[in-house]
Amino acid sequence: MKDIWSAFAALSVGFLIAGSQPSRAETVVIDLTRWTPPNISTVGDDPFGKLVKYGYRLFTDTADEIGPAVSDAPKRLTGNNLSCGNCHLQAGTQPYAMPMTGVWGQFPQYRGREGAVDTLEDRVNGCMQRSMNGRALALDSREMKAFSAYMRWLSEGVPAGAKLVGGGILRIKEPTRAADLGHGAEVYAQVCAACHGADGLGRHAQNGLGYQFPPLWGPDSFNNGAGMSRLLTAAAFALHNMPLGTRFDVPVLTDEQAYDVAGYIVSHERPNKPNLDEDFPIRLQKPIDTPYGPYADGFSVEQHTLGPFGPIRARVKELAAQSGTANPGEPDNGSHKADAAH
Ligand code: HEC
Ligand code: HEC
Repeated sequence: MKDIWSAFAALSVGFLIAGSQPSRAETVVIDLTRWTPPNISTVGDDPFGKLVKYGYRLFTDTADEIGPAVSDAPKRLTGNNLSCGNCHLQAGTQPYAMPMTGVWGQFPQYRGREGAVDTLEDRVNGCMQRSMNGRALALDSREMKAFSAYMRWLSEGVPAGAKLVGGGILRIKEPTRAADLGHGAEVYAQVCAACHGADGLGRHAQNGLGYQFPPLWGPDSFNNGAGMSRLLTAAAFALHNMPLGTRFDVPVLTDEQAYDVAGYIVSHERPNKPNLDEDFPIRLQKPIDTPYGPYADGFSVEQHTLGPFGPIRARVKELAAQSGTANPGEPDNGSHKADAAH
């Protein structure tokens, strides 16, 4: 599969280099797993460059720039001390860690969570209010413009609407059972606790307000409306990116270990986002692993949180077919159709 895509990418890029526009029916494929990200130290001090560099600082050192403990009160925009880059690894360039490379050209785009067409700014604010448990940025704020400029700069050379191999996250092979929390706790103790702490609360950085090892649950973590609080998202992220230094093509965990440790993580307490019942107004578009109701399928919160997901998926598909609902709830993996497991 991988090889077919890269051959296709080479072909499509070849068309571009030859100067002929690809026809509309043809989707350009960009392989982010072989993409060299631009270097932030080459950015100049013109107005756009300054904004890109501020966006980079905001992204990689969020707590010190706009965290809840910064001295300048109006700048306290996030509600926890995470950085965007704690999840969007390598400053938003690591393939299959929800990279920002190319996202500029993927929006506006229909999103089930809002039941409407979202802009890239809406998506930034989605993570501000959920992953960062904070406030939405004003569209004309310097911070929003900086995030936007940073993503524009990272997306240089990626045609709008390209299919991004390495975008979003890579799914796991989903076990057909519920997550085994006992096994998840064992995996956690053996593989994750050394960095994230036995209590899951992480470890603060020696300098500054952020983390050396970010928390996975507790009061300073992402809230229950965040993508990472869904089991299949957390499992996919963990399998292909953790322990730190892991790349998607050389996973350390097995699919079963990732599934169970993700179950263990999502079963802990974290901040609650208000008004979650407003999410996914078309209920059948709710990802099957969303850990909060209401649901249209009759399954319990517990099964939606910890699986097994197969029966829910089958029921949702059936109901969607009956009612003619498009895009019935699949795991939500960023702006791209999720790539199948390796
Ligand atoms: C060697 C240390 C190390 C180990 C071991 C490790 N992590 Fe991480 N993890 C990190 C660091 C550091 C980050 C933040 C990365 C960054 O900012 O570049 C992170 C980020 C994360 C995140 C996203 C950020 C957040 O706060 O939620 C999750 C989820 C995660 N790790 C889960 C796991 C799981 C599950 C395991 C065990 C299978 C694990 N990690 C093992 C160091 C580690
Ligand atoms: C706790 C982990 C986490 C943190 C911290 C986080 N995000 Fe995200 N972000 C995700 C996940 C997971 C997705 C994928 C879709 C989803 O589930 O919402 C995502 C998606 C996005 C997207 C859409 C990407 C796409 O491919 O469509 C943007 C843009 C984004 N995040 C920006 C940010 C910014 C800016 C910050 C910091 C202010 C941030 N994120 C912090 C986890 C995180």
